[in-house]
Amino acid sequence: ARIPVICVDGPTASGKGTLAATLAHRLGYHYLDSGALYRITALAAGRAGLALDAAHEVAIAALAQRLPVRFVGDQVWLDGADVTDAIRTEEAGMNASKVSALPAVRTALITLQHSFRQLPGLVADGRDMGTVIFPDALLKIYLTASAGHRAERRYKQLISKGFPAILDNLRTDLEARDARDSSRSVAPLKPAGDALLLDNSDLTIEESVNQVLGWWRGKQ
Ligand code: C5P
Repeated sequence: ARIPVICVDGPTASGKGTLAATLAHRLGYHYLDSGALYRITALAAGRAGLALDAAHEVAIAALAQRLPVRFVGDQVWLDGADVTDAIRTEEAGMNASKVSALPAVRTALITLQHSFRQLPGLVADGRDMGTVIFPDALLKIYLTASAGHRAERRYKQLISKGFPAILDNLRTDLEARDARDSSRSVAPLKPAGDALLLDNSDLTIEESVNQVLGWWRGKQ
C-alpha cells in the first residue's frame, strides 16, 4: 500500500496551515507546507535580482529545482539563513502567487513535494495537493471560509506578530490572490473531484480538527 496522505487545499487564509499542522501533530505524520516552497522560491528569485514574470520563468524554475531549503521544526531556512518571518509577509504571499503561476516553476517543485511522503504518513497543505501532487491521497479536504472571516483571521495573525495591517486592504489583497490562483492555466485552485468540503467560518480549530479526524477514521 502507498504511504497515506491527507490533503488540505483551499484559498488564502482559510486556516489550512493550522489545520494541517495540527492533524500532522495528532497523527504523528509528516507535514508539507507547500505554499512555503513558492514563498521561498519567490524570495530566492528576488534576491537573485529576477523579476517575477514569465520572461524569467526558466531562471526562476532553475532556482526552484535546487532550492537550498531546510525545514527545522517550525523554522524555515534558505541557504543557511532563517527566513521564517521573511516569507510570511503579505508581500511574500503575493510574490509566491506570481511565481506559482509559472508552469516551469510548478514542475520544478514536484519532486521536492513528493519527497515529503514518508512513513508513517503525510499531511500536505496547499492549492493543488489533491488535484495534482497527491491525486491518490486517501483523504482530500477542501477548506473554505468567507472572505470576511479569512481577512479578519489574517489581520489578527499579522497584528499579533507585530506586523502593520489594514483589514480592508487585506481583504482586497486576498481576493486578488484567490482570483489569480483560481484562474491560472496550470493547477488552478479548485476542489478535487473527490474532495470533502469543509467551511470553517463558524468552527473553532478544534471543531475542524475533530471533523477531519472523524472522516479519517471512517477511511481506515
Ligand atoms: O498557502 P500560502 O499562502 O503560503 O501560499 C502562497 C501562494 O503560493 C498562494 O497564493 C499560491 O499562489 C501559491 N501556492 C500554489 N500551490 C500550492 C501552494 C501555494 O500555487 N500548492
